[in-house]
Amino acid sequence: MCGIVGYTGPREAYPIIIKGLKRLEYRGYDSTGVALQNGGLNVYKKKGKVAELEESIVGVNLHSHIGIGHTRWATHGEPSDRNAHPHQSASGQLAMIHNGIIENYSQLKQELINKGYSFSSDTDTEVLLNFIEEIKKNNNCSLEEAVRVALKRVTGAYVILLMDAGDPGTIIAARKGSPLVIGVGKGEHFLGSDASPMLEYTKEVVYVNDYELAIVKPDELILKNLGNEKITPYIQKLDIELAAIEKGGYDHFMLKEIFEQPRTVYDCLRGRLDAAEGTITMSGIQQYAEQIMNANRIVMVACGTSWHAGLVAEYIFEELCRINVEVEYASEFRYRNPVINKGDVIIAISQSGETADTLVAIENAKNNGAIILGVVNVVGSSIARISHAGAYTHAGPEIGVASTKAFTAQLAVLTMIALKIGYMKGTIPQKRYMQLLNELQEIPEKVAWTLKHSDTIKALAEKYKDAHDFLYLGRGYNFPVALEGALKLKEISYIHAEGYPAAEMKHGPIALVDENLPVVFVATKDPYHEKIMSNMQEIKARKGKVISVITEGDETSASLSDDVMLVPEADEILAPMLTVIPLQLLAYYTGLAKGCDVDKPRNLAKSVTVE
Ligand code: F6R
Repeated sequence: MCGIVGYTGPREAYPIIIKGLKRLEYRGYDSTGVALQNGGLNVYKKKGKVAELEESIVGVNLHSHIGIGHTRWATHGEPSDRNAHPHQSASGQLAMIHNGIIENYSQLKQELINKGYSFSSDTDTEVLLNFIEEIKKNNNCSLEEAVRVALKRVTGAYVILLMDAGDPGTIIAARKGSPLVIGVGKGEHFLGSDASPMLEYTKEVVYVNDYELAIVKPDELILKNLGNEKITPYIQKLDIELAAIEKGGYDHFMLKEIFEQPRTVYDCLRGRLDAAEGTITMSGIQQYAEQIMNANRIVMVACGTSWHAGLVAEYIFEELCRINVEVEYASEFRYRNPVINKGDVIIAISQSGETADTLVAIENAKNNGAIILGVVNVVGSSIARISHAGAYTHAGPEIGVASTKAFTAQLAVLTMIALKIGYMKGTIPQKRYMQLLNELQEIPEKVAWTLKHSDTIKALAEKYKDAHDFLYLGRGYNFPVALEGALKLKEISYIHAEGYPAAEMKHGPIALVDENLPVVFVATKDPYHEKIMSNMQEIKARKGKVISVITEGDETSASLSDDVMLVPEADEILAPMLTVIPLQLLAYYTGLAKGCDVDKPRNLAKSVTVE
């Protein structure tokens, strides 16, 4: 994720771009930059937030009627001044910003290196820009034509905006897989990742589609496909207020992030999972794949929600890879004197990549000879940097303090790693491997299906919001989901909740059960299904209220439950990516019903960098 803004018209471009970038900072904020035509094509960029760029260029003459701007969420190359966008081509004639990932950039880079190009950043963006420039030079063609030719060679996702020193009124834009909105004004045009940068200037917008290219001048907008055929721009009228669009139309970032999950899980699988080919490509861990496969044990180290993802992964790795797995709270692991043998594999799981306990735990383990893999969301974060290898979760910035979309993305990444290692090791039969690959590919759609039932969950939240305690129970792969459901409810609604393995309930928590206690069962169709139905009976016999997350069509569980939340059928290994969704919604709507600040729950912080 990155935020992009562009303007061409009679107004001063710089203030429009800076204001727009501030509105898009939710998309990423590790570096910022603008390109302007002010006595030549000039680029101003800096590591850090938009305000830091502004401060650094106070006093500079930024007078220009055209410009592009970028707020970055790093994918290729750590956040730094040199990796910040816009990038300039080798000749300095072109400037470009990019949101997305060019998957075949290393191949393109090699071609350019063979032709004598060198690069001043680690980004895929600079590669694409010079690739475009090379085509323009070789074919002696327009920038528009060069972009079209170049994009036919590109795999991956992109929105790009380009400026050419030789054509000072024009912005060339193109998209595939990442969002691009063009605002149509009177003698002016605006461009953005969403409509927020242009809302006070125009309500007329064009949503550019995949494989479309736009030539944007102050008084002209030409839209074409990659076959160079003109497309009539479809102008839509925006019916939204600025405040709403900043959260993408949702009331809270938490709700937005819950609803983003079909896309974030998809983004996480994209370019890695190829069910048709039967392959999983994880370039970040490739170098260590043999060592992971031969490890005597794997230790998952994490905190909070990420620790719950580690618990699910324990079950998955043991099942698919037949490797002994331990799951450790980073804060415990780091302070005791754990036995770490050379060649042990430590998987650090963290959304922020900055959690202090996780960071120190892996530093210690690294010093003792362990191999460290990071499963991290924030690119370039400390945990990502200190790890020997790893895989990013690509969930995009998570702004709501309660972690939601990061959890499902962590599960998707960990499942892919386990599938890859298990297949290499020969511990997953071919048929099962292919079945899981195919089912994993369907998960984004099944998440979307689950989200369609949010109204039922909203009504449940109203019904149970006054309870003082909740019990969450699950077995097998759904036990960690019960823990996660309880954590979400606690932090968002301040209702006391405990998660337990359903069978363990009889060893103590059952004493709490009476007619006032809601008990949430995570009870999808899996090998433990009959056992968990017996546990439901035990709660009902003591007058507890049974609320169940069940598989669609499971009439038996439904008949034992006071209320149900549905998920589609899925293999038990993949089910947690679905069963957690209703529990996230239950926490959100309960917090809302109780008037809590769901995006900023009391006493919590998004990134826990204290010990
Ligand atoms: C819960 C939550 C926290 C984090 C924990 C670890 O909703 O957000 O429990 O999961 O603080 O943070 P990361 O994953 O950034 O290391």
